[in-house]
Amino acid sequence: MSVASGDLTQNESLSNGDCDTDFDFSKLQDKPRHLNLERQRSFDERSLAEASPRFSSRLENGQRQIDLESIFSPSKRSSFNTPRSQNGFEPHPMFIEAWESLRKTMVYFRGQPVGTIAALDNSDEKLNYDQVFVRDFVPSGLAFLMNGEPEIVKNFLLKTLRLQSWEKRIDRFQLGEGVMPASFKVLHDPVRNTETLMADFGESAIGRVAPIDSGFWWIILLRAYTKSTGDASLAEMPECQKGMRLILALCLSEGFDTFPTLLCADGCSMIDRRMGVYGYPIEIQALFFMALRCALLLLKQDAQGKELIERIGKRLHALSFHMRSYFWLDMKHLNDIYRYKTEEYSHTAVNKFNVMPDSLPEWVFDFMPTQGGYFLGNVGPSNMDFRWFCLGNCVAILSSLATPEQSTAIMDLIESRWDELVGDMPVKVCYPAIESHDWRIITGCDPKNTRWSYHNGGSWPVLLWLVTAACIKVGRPQIARRAIEVAELRLAKDGWPEYYDGKNGRYIGKQARKHQTWSIAGYLVAKMMLEDPSHLGMIALEEDKQMKTTIKRSSSWTC
Ligand code: GLC
Repeated sequence: MSVASGDLTQNESLSNGDCDTDFDFSKLQDKPRHLNLERQRSFDERSLAEASPRFSSRLENGQRQIDLESIFSPSKRSSFNTPRSQNGFEPHPMFIEAWESLRKTMVYFRGQPVGTIAALDNSDEKLNYDQVFVRDFVPSGLAFLMNGEPEIVKNFLLKTLRLQSWEKRIDRFQLGEGVMPASFKVLHDPVRNTETLMADFGESAIGRVAPIDSGFWWIILLRAYTKSTGDASLAEMPECQKGMRLILALCLSEGFDTFPTLLCADGCSMIDRRMGVYGYPIEIQALFFMALRCALLLLKQDAQGKELIERIGKRLHALSFHMRSYFWLDMKHLNDIYRYKTEEYSHTAVNKFNVMPDSLPEWVFDFMPTQGGYFLGNVGPSNMDFRWFCLGNCVAILSSLATPEQSTAIMDLIESRWDELVGDMPVKVCYPAIESHDWRIITGCDPKNTRWSYHNGGSWPVLLWLVTAACIKVGRPQIARRAIEVAELRLAKDGWPEYYDGKNGRYIGKQARKHQTWSIAGYLVAKMMLEDPSHLGMIALEEDKQMKTTIKRSSSWTC
């Protein structure tokens, strides 16, 4: 844990007569200021695109797709500041409760809101749930943006940017300048009446792994802020431009890599414990792609920016080709792998990574629907992780890393494997769980990650916002509506747990925190997006026209 000391550059400490505690509860409001109240049944069983033809265009296959640019610009907000729904329906009581709970998690520094704590459950102080996690704040930030309250998001972005410039060390090793913290905390000294920030860049985390996802989420949130407020001045600040350049320098640096994907240690993202997600995990690759695309929109075309923009363009081109070609799995590709020859050498090799057909797990043959597909969990030398990961697949849709056909296929898979992936509580973090010998070898006998628990096939309500956004983008909001209805049966009654356990997610997680902030915020964001799909624009990107040619070429991956 890096604690600010006397050092001026790292010192955020200051006398503050206003604050007696870490969190100033007096600043909390009872009600959201600009509730976009739920319009019950606003979309019913119709698809969003059908319901909103002015926001959509017809695809070749006759389906409608959402036109993101036309649905969202700050001047076109539909009901952004409307305190009541136009049709006068009262919101779901859970929605009001969620807003009240979210406000209680707000963290203040120098009297300004700077984030939300991970969980308002103080049952175990040893754990770090009293911190503001960068990844956890994203759904909170989006909820505030959607409710017309950008201030906390702006403060969060600026505060974490200051933390980025700290010197980070693990023992005697210094981390890269651009690394963003996993989390931070406001410490209050009641004697000196000072507030100090304390940040963790991985040096206190279990496994001592730096969070690769933090920097990507930071860029994605900066773009969401800019898109939602129409205020480009924050992103244009020299500090923000530099912050982005530092993050990008870390992941665009040249080395021994033969692939455009990013090589990662286990536990460097949402799944922050050993779970066999080292190598090239889909979560990081999809976030990497999205962050690169957001950076392209935010970087200034000045001397430093120009060179970077060129490098980003090249990387995006290579990354989309690689992901769409080698990470994609559907019935046809599965059959191809099943029939692979091995030990092929030279450029003519079909089985480029020398994947052994014997390494195909049995479950994948049943899991794969005739219609549908998904991005694999990981692809590397003689290694394919066939597990389905929710976050990576949803971000692939939102960033348009997935082609329109692939996005539709991911939705088809969710629909046809509903019991497995959604079940009694949306949504599985990954599927399936690893058990027995595999569990011992892959997790190192982790008692927190036993089968169908926590990161090992547990169900995480926070993922609801990502699934909802992806559903809306693909023009199938009815899938999201169904998932939200499932969550509404239990989530609030159970006290907003962090995760659920069991094959169908029927049990509150063994060690799950209650009042987990991102479970609350994830629900709010999902509801607000369904209520007003124009919010999707801040978190989704349309397909880059230049990349379309790559898709065509990569559509047959074995050639
Ligand atoms: C757990 C999760 C991680 C999350 C943190 C705070 O460690 O694995 O993704 O950021 O809790 O909620």
